[in-house]
Amino acid sequence: MFSHKILERNSSLLLVVSLLVVSVGGIVEIAPLFYLENTIEKVKGVRPYSPLELMGYNIYKREGCNLCHSQMIRPFRDEVERYGHYSLAAESMYDHPFMWGSKRTGPDLARVGGRYSDEWHREHLIKPTNLVPESIMPGYPFLMKPLKVHDIAAHLKANKLVGVPYTDEQIKNAKTDLYAQADPESDGAEDVAARYPKAQVRAFDGDPETLTEMDAVIAYLQVLGTMVDFSTYDAKANLR
Ligand code: HEC
Repeated sequence: MFSHKILERNSSLLLVVSLLVVSVGGIVEIAPLFYLENTIEKVKGVRPYSPLELMGYNIYKREGCNLCHSQMIRPFRDEVERYGHYSLAAESMYDHPFMWGSKRTGPDLARVGGRYSDEWHREHLIKPTNLVPESIMPGYPFLMKPLKVHDIAAHLKANKLVGVPYTDEQIKNAKTDLYAQADPESDGAEDVAARYPKAQVRAFDGDPETLTEMDAVIAYLQVLGTMVDFSTYDAKANLR
């Protein structure tokens, strides 16, 4: 009681002691971060994007799809029932920048992979109202143009620079892998799946002859949320 009186009547002393109290709280929160090797728990199955998926991610970013779509399922019952298992930090650890978004004009896309066929995505992206008459999503018919491929190795290298563990072999074969993933008949098709476990190799836009931006976007949408196998995922084991 007595000491409180001293504090409350002496504003400079109150300031000093308040700062002291606040900094204890700060240190407790911040200091451990310097001793942790990584603040994101590694989760089995999460891998860097294949070159084609990475180009799809880049186009998603370029077109601002993230302004209308989130990729962050919160751990609430209504979200989990609608979209699936809540998002794990590890699932976006290789996104630079992450595509969590802050607004849902359209649905969350964190687990859209495998939910629709490639053909559905192609038709929907060209003209959404053909499939969902009440849709207010704009059409992206221009994605049917050829994909620019000359700088793909540089994209992998840039991601490596910020911490995505691309191997030299993956960087060296970036261009071949880029073409091969959208052409199941090509020689390199098997290598893509070997270099990027569980990568889906298909003519995503329905035409294996030309590699289009559509191929890249659909490959990206189809991998979203499919890397972690939630039938075997154990959240408690990952906390260790
Ligand atoms: C102006 C806001 C807006 C933008 C920008 C937008 N979308 Fe959408 N999107 C929507 C709305 C609204 C829906 C729900 C109606 C529908 O299915 O068309 C939707 C639905 C979708 C769906 C179906 C999701 C599901 O679970 O049914 C996918 C996939 C999708 N959008 C992908 C994209 C991609 C890829 C882009 C960028 C190239 C994009 N969207 C840009 C508003 C938008």
